[in-house]
Amino acid sequence: MSGPGEPILAVDRLDVTFLGRRRHEKVRAVADVSFAVRQGETFGVIGESGCGKSTLGRAIVCLTRPSAGRILHSGQDPFRLSARALRRHRRGFQIVFQDPNAALDPRMTILDSVREPLDVGSIGTSTERRRTALAMLDRVALSQELALRYPHELSGGQKQRANIARALVLRPRLIVCDESVAALDVSIQADMLNLFMDLQREFGLTYVFISHDLRVVAHISDRVAVMYAGKLAELAPAEALMQRPLHPYAQALLSAEPEPRVPVAGEKRRIVLKGEIPSPLAPPPGCRFHTRCPIAKPECASREPEWREFEPGRFVACHYAGTRLAGSMGSAQTVLDGALAGPADGSVPRLQSIRKGGDQQ
Ligand SMILES: Nc1ncnc2c1ncn2[C@@H]1O[C@H](COP(=O)(O)OP(=O)(O)OP(=O)(O)O)[C@@H](O)[C@H]1O
Ligand code: SF4
Ligand SMILES: [Mg+2]
Repeated sequence: MSGPGEPILAVDRLDVTFLGRRRHEKVRAVADVSFAVRQGETFGVIGESGCGKSTLGRAIVCLTRPSAGRILHSGQDPFRLSARALRRHRRGFQIVFQDPNAALDPRMTILDSVREPLDVGSIGTSTERRRTALAMLDRVALSQELALRYPHELSGGQKQRANIARALVLRPRLIVCDESVAALDVSIQADMLNLFMDLQREFGLTYVFISHDLRVVAHISDRVAVMYAGKLAELAPAEALMQRPLHPYAQALLSAEPEPRVPVAGEKRRIVLKGEIPSPLAPPPGCRFHTRCPIAKPECASREPEWREFEPGRFVACHYAGTRLAGSMGSAQTVLDGALAGPADGSVPRLQSIRKGGDQQ
């Protein structure tokens, strides 16, 4: 049941399992994940490729059905609705993908693509739908002239603005942004993030912001969840995570930034992780990170760490949470996912032109 104190989104012991290619093979893409998101919050999700971010995002907007556990929208389980009611309910929970072309039909003008969700839902008269779509395109800074073009006649950034307008016409309450700025040129990324933040204030939106880019996520998120091999490793307020990550994996991610923030033995050094990212077909027993964790102890291979509130508002899954990684982690080069490791040349953090979440226009 829905109640006034309910979070807009609660993910309750969520599992999403896919069938593998071979018989009896199962991919547990999301494994026992729980968290809640407040109305108006920006909730970041980071982790390496294949750790289950998109699967989680798709489940949140009801594009993928949980194998176990629940997704609750303001206390209500949308998967208990009838197919018709679910279609209607989904208007309030939208997703913007990484690929700007994903939701735009190449045979339709931008205006038609943006008004399509209104047409499908028969929302308002035809004139009203056109007016609403044009107003939303204007709001994301796409002129009427651009609105009448086809997708191939727009830049990547312009197409992504059209995708945002398309998601917004249905006046959603929550938007999952799945790597929504990752395919864009660095200079355009800052514009897009500013637009996301402006729209959030204007429409009272809640975001689940999925990204490889820790700096982007930490900058715009109120809280950040760190995912590893289908599970949450840590969940903390963004600032606290950036200043003092508690989970060894979160510490390694942060140290891979161009400007490492984790002091190691009195200096700032990269923490080098050895080993491969585990296959979701056969995740390691015990703690899933034990095959790469620099401080793993024998019990880590046999006993799975609990997801616990380590400090008020800070959750972590590690038997030795808060242990600061010390010394070199070996001579092998980093095997952290390249996209997380930041520019190899250590070039400028690209967030200078992004306003802080609380800044006014
Ligand atoms: N429909 C599917 N059928 C089978 N396996 C799937 C399916 N979708 C995802 N997977 C698998 O689930 C795991 C998690 O995939 P997911 O796309 O959620 O990862 P991700 O964290 O979003 O990765 P990336 O950062 O590369 O986008 C991967 O091993 C992937 O191969
Ligand atoms: S439980 Fe053990 S292996 Fe897992 S992160 Fe903590 S120390 Fe490392
Ligand atoms: Mg993904």
